[in-house]
Amino acid sequence: MYRQQILDHYKNPRNYGDVDDATFEHVGENPMCGDTIKLFVNLEDDDETIAGISFIGDGCAISQASASLLSTELQGMTLEAVRDMDRDDIVEMLGVEISPMRIKCAVLAEKVVQDGAAIYVGDKELDETTTET
Ligand code: FES
Repeated sequence: MYRQQILDHYKNPRNYGDVDDATFEHVGENPMCGDTIKLFVNLEDDDETIAGISFIGDGCAISQASASLLSTELQGMTLEAVRDMDRDDIVEMLGVEISPMRIKCAVLAEKVVQDGAAIYVGDKELDETTTET
């Protein structure tokens, strides 16, 4: 059973929608199921603090709720802090036990924003994130 928070974010995703003027955007896929998430990140004038995130996507409750939760939780964080996050941070944010089968669902959005940040600062070259890497 999913906790109420996950169902709420799945049914009523926060910050859902694409934007034309994002500082950067990035897309990722879980190749096991084909579910996708595309994130749009806007930075403050300091070029490192997240002013806002929105997303579009298609997938299971955990993947989409995780993107929705991240879009609210990462506001005000620096790109460096985002890149330091790990899967435990996502599991804690979701507030439920995540089975090994579903962990890729949970971390898809995190990996997308982390790769997007790495590409933006010039540390990575990548067209699309997958949960396989
Ligand atoms: Fe595809 Fe969860 S089943 S990301």
